[in-house]
Amino acid sequence: MIPITVVRVGDRERELVNQVLDSGSLAQGKMVEQFESLVAHMAGTRHAVAVSNGTLSLVAALQALEVGPGDELVTSPFTFVASVNAALHVGATVRFADIEPDYFTLDPTKLDSAITDRTKVVMPVHLYGQMSDLDAISTVIGDRDIKILEDAAQAHGAATATRRAGSILGSFSFYATKNISTGEGGAVTTDDDDLADRLRMLRNQGMRARYQYEMVGYNYRMTDLQAALGIPQMERLDEINAARRANAERLTEAFADVDGLTPPPVADGYTHVYHQYTVRIGEGAAVTRDQAIEQLTEKGIGCGVYYPKAAYDYDCYRNHPGVIIEQCPEAERAATEALSLPVHPHLTDSDLDQIIDSVISVVRG
Ligand SMILES: Cc1ncc(COP(=O)(O)O)c(C=O)c1O
Repeated sequence: MIPITVVRVGDRERELVNQVLDSGSLAQGKMVEQFESLVAHMAGTRHAVAVSNGTLSLVAALQALEVGPGDELVTSPFTFVASVNAALHVGATVRFADIEPDYFTLDPTKLDSAITDRTKVVMPVHLYGQMSDLDAISTVIGDRDIKILEDAAQAHGAATATRRAGSILGSFSFYATKNISTGEGGAVTTDDDDLADRLRMLRNQGMRARYQYEMVGYNYRMTDLQAALGIPQMERLDEINAARRANAERLTEAFADVDGLTPPPVADGYTHVYHQYTVRIGEGAAVTRDQAIEQLTEKGIGCGVYYPKAAYDYDCYRNHPGVIIEQCPEAERAATEALSLPVHPHLTDSDLDQIIDSVISVVRG
């Protein structure tokens, strides 16, 4: 089986983890600080505040922006539910703006109708490693007092022609399968000194100095063990992303002229980091997406569906007073057509050949 993800820990990671173990100091310390400076460098921001996971980094960012009950947030319906859960966790109301069908990210032309007088945040999701069109989103927001919070969980090192992922206000995840992984982990990136200060206090029970509580906080801290895993990977980020990109380019070239199979396009001037390599299997294919999964699995090709439904399309959200649903047909269509294939850096040439041959034969029937 060629798995959809492979997690390998290198010698340098082991060395740094052992350093932490030998230091006797396992909680947040110097390793976290070093990891934060690498994350800030990646996003091109002055600050990165590391936290225990990507969901909490969204929560912390929303709390730092003082988003709460009565405030609304607009996000993409085609995302991992953490984007929605974080907003509900702080008591905000969630609305959705449909996705742009080529790139699977929030469609700026659908945004205005989801914005109301209560909207405080727009949260685009940089899905699969390709950024949302932040310039177009900013233009739609105009001079309204609405903040952009980028859910960049899947977009380590991604960029548009004009911005890096996380450069406005970013939330990253370092969950086990992400391009950079600390097992569990997250970080908020920002240029705003006050916001960074509030985030650091929120993460540490509202303390600036020991036992001096300046706000109501919580424990969102990352440990040095997590950071020790992340540092060497962060130092190799360009290399890791380049390997993913090379694999993706090879797949896209091979899939260029197959009826019913649409490889993921890259927007002009964008840097896609291929957290997932996601094709559409649609009209013209000999099989449905779900039949393709069955047949590819039989042929030993690991594949995944991210995501099987629009985020609102579950009873727990449909019946939630904090979720306001307008149907999003493009998200619903993507949920039936999107199929992610292995693109991770450990694929060999023969793995890629096998993926290409299997996918083409399944889609052609
Ligand atoms: C788009 C998106 N947002 C948020 C998260 C939440 O991150 P975590 O799993 O680290 O809490 C994830 C990751 O799984 C994600 O893919």
